[in-house]
Amino acid sequence: MSVPHLLSTTDLSVDEIHALINSAHTFLAGNLRGTPNTQSLNNKRIVLAFFEASTRTRLSFETAAHRLGANTLVFQATGSSVEKGESFEETIETLNAMGFDAIVLRHGSNGAHSIARRHSNMSVINAGEGWIEHPTQALLDASSLLERMGSIRGVRVCIVGDIKHSRVAHSNIELLTRLGAEVSLCAPNELQSSSPLAAECRKFESIAEAAEWAQVLCMLRIQRERFIHSDASHAIQSIEEYRNRFAWTTERNLKQPEMLIMHPGPVNIGVELDNEVVHAHNSLVHRQVSHGVAIRMAVLEHILAPFSKNI
Ligand code: CP
Repeated sequence: MSVPHLLSTTDLSVDEIHALINSAHTFLAGNLRGTPNTQSLNNKRIVLAFFEASTRTRLSFETAAHRLGANTLVFQATGSSVEKGESFEETIETLNAMGFDAIVLRHGSNGAHSIARRHSNMSVINAGEGWIEHPTQALLDASSLLERMGSIRGVRVCIVGDIKHSRVAHSNIELLTRLGAEVSLCAPNELQSSSPLAAECRKFESIAEAAEWAQVLCMLRIQRERFIHSDASHAIQSIEEYRNRFAWTTERNLKQPEMLIMHPGPVNIGVELDNEVVHAHNSLVHRQVSHGVAIRMAVLEHILAPFSKNI
């Protein structure tokens, strides 16, 4: 890897993506066997700065860092001086002055990570940015898919749901397409994305149509918390209507049990996915979480191991 940051999937070449996935598969086997922690990031200090809620990403980065021997501290905006009016830039400069090697950053605003990069000399690792980027989610999705399918090239993946507000969708469209998958999108018109890459994807207006084409469905949560920033407030008339057109229900899963089902989490059970589907043999939902720890180990090691600061 040529730069000590990971802001976007586009920071990585296809060869680097495959190298990260190969490392993740090795780490995954070790994690499942209970292999002891390594010390490859011994003396590295990582701050996990979360300005938005998270379960999977925060805990998997923290677990990954500990598995590699790094020290971590968690910064949560809630309860910090952000609540006294401290600016984002000042918060980043404060963390930088404490001498961390890397910041794993989640923020709800598009562009926050570039600001963090300009205001610090820490490696910036994107743990979710507005609705534009979630590179490690796309990497772990590719890692899970590759394990299950054996190859990504030519696999037909349909991303279903609130594409417009989904950083997972935008990172996945970019990365999966570059790895050779065919990516399509299925959403209400108001929740389709206007990004240039999304514009090139095939579109479906219902999950019934999508399921005739796809081998894999990447289901997404409706992100109502982001509707206030866009013109999507009338996109969903009722949960019942949404389920009829866009949910992968137990009934649909019984008719097509060979369909692979993915979801980045958190799942709104009973909206886009039924509980039985999350736990079905064709669901990768929990396997994706296991890949999340392994891929974040690979990312941390690739970014931090070659750049030793010796604080
Ligand atoms: N997929 C994902 O980013 O989940 P969290 O919000 O729980 O981190």
